[in-house]
Amino acid sequence: MRIERAWLATLGFLVVASSLPLRAQPAAEPLAAALTIHADQTGSRINRNIYGQFAEHLGHCIYEGLWVGENSSIPNTHGVRNDVLGALKELKIPVIRWPGGCFADEYHWKDGIGPREKRPAMVNTHWGGVTENNHFGTHEFLDLCEQLGCEAYISGNVGSGTVQEMMEWVEYMTSDADSPLANLRRQNGRDKPWRVRYFAVGNESWGCGGNMRPEYYADEFRRYNTFVKNHGSNRVYRVACGASDGDTNWTAVLMRQDAQQMNGLSLHHYSLPTGSWQGRKGSATVFGEDQWFSTLTRTLSMDTFIASHCSVMDTYDRQKRVGLVVDEWGTWYDVEPGTNPGFLFQQNTVRDAVMASLNFHIFHKYANRVSMANIAQMINVLQAMILTDKEKMLRTPTYWVFEMYKVHQDATNLGFELTSPDYKFGNGTAAAVSASVSRDANGAVHMSLVNATPNQAANISCKIAGMTAKSVTGRILTGPEMNSRNTFDAPDAVHPEPFNGAKLDGENLSIALPSKSVVVLELK
Ligand code: AHR
Repeated sequence: MRIERAWLATLGFLVVASSLPLRAQPAAEPLAAALTIHADQTGSRINRNIYGQFAEHLGHCIYEGLWVGENSSIPNTHGVRNDVLGALKELKIPVIRWPGGCFADEYHWKDGIGPREKRPAMVNTHWGGVTENNHFGTHEFLDLCEQLGCEAYISGNVGSGTVQEMMEWVEYMTSDADSPLANLRRQNGRDKPWRVRYFAVGNESWGCGGNMRPEYYADEFRRYNTFVKNHGSNRVYRVACGASDGDTNWTAVLMRQDAQQMNGLSLHHYSLPTGSWQGRKGSATVFGEDQWFSTLTRTLSMDTFIASHCSVMDTYDRQKRVGLVVDEWGTWYDVEPGTNPGFLFQQNTVRDAVMASLNFHIFHKYANRVSMANIAQMINVLQAMILTDKEKMLRTPTYWVFEMYKVHQDATNLGFELTSPDYKFGNGTAAAVSASVSRDANGAVHMSLVNATPNQAANISCKIAGMTAKSVTGRILTGPEMNSRNTFDAPDAVHPEPFNGAKLDGENLSIALPSKSVVVLELK
C-alpha cells in the first residue's frame, strides 16, 4: 500500500509518499484505493507548456508526417497536411520544440530560407544518413506555429555553429529594425517579425551536441547566450542544456555558474523497457507483463530524477525562478521491423497511454519547478501523437491522453491524499493507482486517474472535501490488451469512451477503474 499526500507548502506543492507493507489481494478481486480531495487547498499552476511537443528533422516526423509541400496531392495548407493540422489543433498545443534534438547542433538555419528549389541540401548524419533538402525551414516552422496558435521553442546550434550564426538567427526572426537580417526576412516574404518566446542554447551538449564537460558548456552557454538578443518587444526565455536522467553534477555546475543568465534548464529522460541503449530496447507491440512492469518503473523514475534535480536547483535558486524544462521524454522501443533503424518509428499502445498519463501526474506534482515538457516526438517518431502512411493518418493512444488531459493546462493543482494498493511483479513493487486533481479558470474540478496494473481492476473510494459537487462526468481510455493499438486498418480501435464507473453520493464518490486504464473526471 502506498500513501501519497499532496497539499500546499509555503513555496508550492509538497508531496509526501511512504510505502507500507502490502496486504495480499486475491488476484481476481478488484484492488481497493482511497482518495480524499481537498478542493479548498490550492497548489501551483500547471503550466500549459507541460503539454508541449517536439518535432525534429528525424525520420518521417517533418517530411511526410507534417510537410508534404504545396504541390502535394495530399490536401495541405502552406505545405502542411490538413489532416495532421486538424488533429493537432484539437490538442490545444501550447508550444513546439524544433529543429532537434541532435539534428539542431548540425543545423545551419541559412540553408533553410529563401526559394525552396535554391536551398542547399545536407546529409542528416544522425538520423539515417538521408538527404535533407531544407524545404522545411524557419518560415515554414514559424508559419506552422501561427496556424496552430502555439509558441515556438527553437534549439540553437552550439555544437557546430558559431555565436554569429545564432545571433543572426534570432535577429532574422524577431527584429523589426531596418537591419540587414530583418530586411533579408522581408525579402523572403515575411514583413513583421515573429514572436519567438523560447530559445535553447544547445541540445545534449554532454553528448551529440558536442561531448562537453559541464564546466566547459557552462562557459559556452554564457558566451552564446550573451548574443541571443531581445529585439523590440520579443523577450526570449533562455533554456540552458541540462542533464540526462540522474546526472545532478551537470545540474549543479550549470546552476552554480549560470543560474542568473538562464530562465530554464533542461532535463531528458526516456523510458526503455530493457533499460539498455546498446542492445535491444524491447518491442513496442510484442511484450509481456515483465516489459509492461519495467517500462512502468522506468517511467516512474522520472519522479526520482525530477526530485533530485529540483533539490539541486533549490540550493542555488530558492525562489524557483529557473524552470525545469523536460524537453525530451517518452517511451523508446526497438523500431518497427523492416523500418529504417535511424528513423525511430515505433507503434504506440495502451501501455504508452498509461505511461504518458503517469508522466503528466509527475510533472503536475512538481509544477512549482517544471515549466515545460516536450514529448518525443510529435509525429512518426518515438512516442508519437500521430502516425502517417502516405495519405493515411491515425491518432495514437498517446494522442488521446493529450486530448483528455488538456483540461489540466493552466489549471491549479488541488490537494489530495491517495492510498494506493501496490502493484507487485517479480521482486518489484509500484503504486497501482495514480491521481492528479486540478481546478480550471471556470471553477470546474478535473481528476485524472490511472490504473497501472494490466490485469486487475481498482475500486477507488473517494471523499470530496472543500466543495459541494453536484455532478460527475468522465471519459475513459483503455483497451482489451496491454498492446491494444490503432492501425491504419483500424485507426479508432483505441479511443476515449464515456465513463460510467463513477457514482456520486453527497461528498462520497466511488470509482471503478478497469485495469490498464486512464480516466478523466469532471466535477461540477
Ligand atoms: O528524440 C531523439 C533524440 O534523443 C534527440 O535527437 C536527442 O536529443 C536525444 O538523444
